[in-house]
Amino acid sequence: MNKLKRVFIFGAGSGIGQAVFNEFNSLSSDQNPEKTEVYGFSRSGQSSLARLTPNTNHKFDLTSDSDFQTWETAWQKEWKSWETSEEKSEFVVYFAQGDGFFSSVEDLNLVEIQKHFSLNLFSSMRVLKIMSLALKSSLPATIVFFTSTAARQGFPNSTVYCASKHAASGLAKALREEWKPFGTKVINAYLGAIATSIWDNRPEFSKEDMVSVKDAAVFLHGLAYLPDTVYLEEFYMTPKKGIL
Ligand SMILES: NC(=O)c1ccc[n+]([C@@H]2O[C@H](COP(=O)([O-])OP(=O)(O)OC[C@H]3O[C@@H](n4cnc5c(N)ncnc54)[C@H](OP(=O)(O)O)[C@@H]3O)[C@@H](O)[C@H]2O)c1
Repeated sequence: MNKLKRVFIFGAGSGIGQAVFNEFNSLSSDQNPEKTEVYGFSRSGQSSLARLTPNTNHKFDLTSDSDFQTWETAWQKEWKSWETSEEKSEFVVYFAQGDGFFSSVEDLNLVEIQKHFSLNLFSSMRVLKIMSLALKSSLPATIVFFTSTAARQGFPNSTVYCASKHAASGLAKALREEWKPFGTKVINAYLGAIATSIWDNRPEFSKEDMVSVKDAAVFLHGLAYLPDTVYLEEFYMTPKKGIL
């Protein structure tokens, strides 16, 4: 059977998501372990969301209702054409979108909390709802959630971030159970500190102490090529020092 791995990276504009996108894109076809196409999505994407162009980043604000409408139409059209092709799709989805939110409880602002949850939690749910039929009928799909040490424990001045990451972790755990009958691999990636701009306004933490974004990407790229019978439920990646 001819098969093609189609990789979707939400949050491919910078940081870890961009590095993982580049990892798929930079490897020539004979270096990737299987025939692969990668599709990126983020606000800084250059390709139009109205049609899916392999190996590019599409302009998609994952908090925008109108962008979701455009994406749903483009997705349904593309998926139908893939379904009728001789080549079977194996879908891989990375949820790499997100932002930091670090403030004391007394300084919390409800509008900002809603924006944070809209990006860090609800956008993944919206994507999953739209892609669900395809993901369930795919050759077993792989879905990777970038959660965090903050999905395992609490940190001061991080109530909102810890709450959204714990929630994303709950989403991953429940989805794994719900889609077990379809063979879907749902991976909860508890990421420790990785040197990206998410840390730029936190000078108390040194990027020297963090996992390099390239190293993280090399590892995360490999999750798309797990052997058929290997189901990796979750893992915890940290730099040498552990929790900073
Ligand atoms: N770095 C770490 O140490 C670390 C540790 C644990 C977990 N994480 C998690 O990993 C994920 C990526 O973090 P990062 O460190 O790579 O940070 P980053 O460099 O700030 O990346 C954020 C990503 O989200 C995209 N994005 C932001 N707002 C968006 C929107 N409204 N619509 C669509 N895309 C949007 C950005 O692209 P555009 O700007 O082009 O939209 C970018 O690709 C986050 O969920 C973060 O919580 C990071």
